Amino acid sequence: MCGIIAYSGHREAYPVIIKGLKRLEYRGYDSAGVAIFNQDLQVYKKKGRVSDLDAYAQGQDLHGTVGIGHTRWATHGEPNDVNAHPHYSQSKNIVLIHNGIIENYASIKQDLLNKGYSFHSETDSEVLVNFIEDVQQNVGCSLVEAVRLALQKVVGAYAIVIISKDNPGQMIAARKGSPLVIGIGEREFFVASDATPIIEYTNEVVYLDDQELAVIEDGELHIKSLDSIEKTPYIHKLDLELDAIEKGGFEHFMLKEIFEQPKSVSDSMRGRINSTEGTLLLGGLIEYINRLVSADRIIILGCGTSWHAGLVAEYIFEELARVPVEVEYASEFRYRNPIIRENDVVIAISQSGETADTLAAIELAKSKGAIIFGVCNVVGASIPRVTHAGAYIHAGPEIGVASTKAFTGQLSILMMMALMIAHRKGTITESRYRKLLVELEQIPAKIEQCLALNAQTQYIAEVFKDVRNFLYLGRGYNFPVALEGALKLKEISYIHAEGYPAAEMKHGPIALIDEEMPVVFIAPHDSSYEKIVSNIQEVKARKGRVIAIVNEGDTVIKNLVDFSIEIPYTSEELTPLLSVIPLQLLAYHIAVMRGCDVDRPRNLAKSVTVE
Ligand code: AGP
Ligand code: GLU
Repeated sequence: MCGIIAYSGHREAYPVIIKGLKRLEYRGYDSAGVAIFNQDLQVYKKKGRVSDLDAYAQGQDLHGTVGIGHTRWATHGEPNDVNAHPHYSQSKNIVLIHNGIIENYASIKQDLLNKGYSFHSETDSEVLVNFIEDVQQNVGCSLVEAVRLALQKVVGAYAIVIISKDNPGQMIAARKGSPLVIGIGEREFFVASDATPIIEYTNEVVYLDDQELAVIEDGELHIKSLDSIEKTPYIHKLDLELDAIEKGGFEHFMLKEIFEQPKSVSDSMRGRINSTEGTLLLGGLIEYINRLVSADRIIILGCGTSWHAGLVAEYIFEELARVPVEVEYASEFRYRNPIIRENDVVIAISQSGETADTLAAIELAKSKGAIIFGVCNVVGASIPRVTHAGAYIHAGPEIGVASTKAFTGQLSILMMMALMIAHRKGTITESRYRKLLVELEQIPAKIEQCLALNAQTQYIAEVFKDVRNFLYLGRGYNFPVALEGALKLKEISYIHAEGYPAAEMKHGPIALIDEEMPVVFIAPHDSSYEKIVSNIQEVKARKGRVIAIVNEGDTVIKNLVDFSIEIPYTSEELTPLLSVIPLQLLAYHIAVMRGCDVDRPRNLAKSVTVE
């Protein structure tokens, strides 16, 4: 998620923190804040840019050598001044900054409300700081011990830093599932989400591990596990360039985001799915779940990659929930005079939540009385604010213009929606429901296996980097993936690429086949396998060169084609989450080899907020 920077040492803390937050801006955020200890805990926080925060704080007494700073990527509570971090505890003795998601915040909050605690924000983070204070008061222990005890009861992901009025020189940090790095300087310490804000002061860092607690006090650093086992800090010497660190060591944000997909898909399910208990809950849909379950038709709106996610969802909803689905380009829908009936339901898909065409299509659908569900990544964006309900994909900021982790996050949410509806309607058996839940939970690990294909896709990219055209072919659930693979290639490498249903070849496109027309087939061992083998043979018979995405161990297609890329097996409905990975990597490597600006391709914007 977003950015943390904290400082304790001999310098004025505020300049270090503000500069550090600016160094972390590349991670994407919606608001920012700082807390400086100076006789008291002074908190300044604002929605908007770090520069807005800096302007807001000017004129205040910002002296102090201990401070914490945060750039927020909202998950609970829209971006505004109140929900920005740092958050005070009720007594105002403690301030906390947090990256991540506290899954069991609602039950903790209810307990605290019952004890008389009040909350100013909608965030899970404010619940955490009050939980820590409550533990300290109930147990009568030190703040460090209270943090340790509280975190043992927290479910979810966190990187936190805490300072307090009662322990002015002390800084406490802890992490689980979100990164934290501790920089060690001359009589000074830094804590940050990554080394970017630290590197200019020191190259000596300690990486905190999951479920470890760090205490910085009196010029010393102590680390222990949540079960109180002391750890000897291992000091790494950084030799990375600043620019490289921003991208986590990856050459481009797009590659970083491709490799983030095991985590981003896992985060899309966090706190929502439990295959052991057979539970599945998208909290944002509950209020309107009956409208979804009783829908006579689902209309899906989106553009580009989001439209492709909608096409996959069409197959999934119709197969599992037995409800008719129509997928519309929002850019077309908005100018039609569509028929929307009382029991129709609309799902609007958008990574940015700001796409003008999708917003306009939503307004048109609303004007005709439809209930609208949003599937978005950016919390508090325009689309989540104008839809009746929805679910965030929690993919974290997607910086690269070519959408990658948002696509797989959208598919994960749409699959969960379809399963929620199908289970309530009884259109799938309990055993199939359970099986798909298990399969869905295994997807992050299977994406990890697909990422191991990186070197192979790089080798294949070298062979095809100079071609002028590409065809992508798939059937069923993988027809939309063919479209998505073609879009990835054309938008970052500028090679003309077309996606097509494989069965459509004989209705025209096969005329294009010759040795100059490479064809990517998405050919997992699914219900249309034999048919796609025939399509491959038709292409080979006409000297076409074929790259096939197949399931592991497939020797039939492997012996037919020029290159085969083997992905793990999963159920047909979930294959797109895996088959898209090698296509993302192939497009990325071809674009890099062609010297294209992968993160900022020509003529394109990350969010098309104009018509
Ligand atoms: C996909 O790689 C492109 N960046 C583009 O097609 C994008 O998917 C489209 O503009 C929709 O954006 P949204 O998901 O933010 O609405
Ligand atoms: N879940 C917290 C919030 O929504 C932290 C989000 C983040 O990682 O920035 O405020």
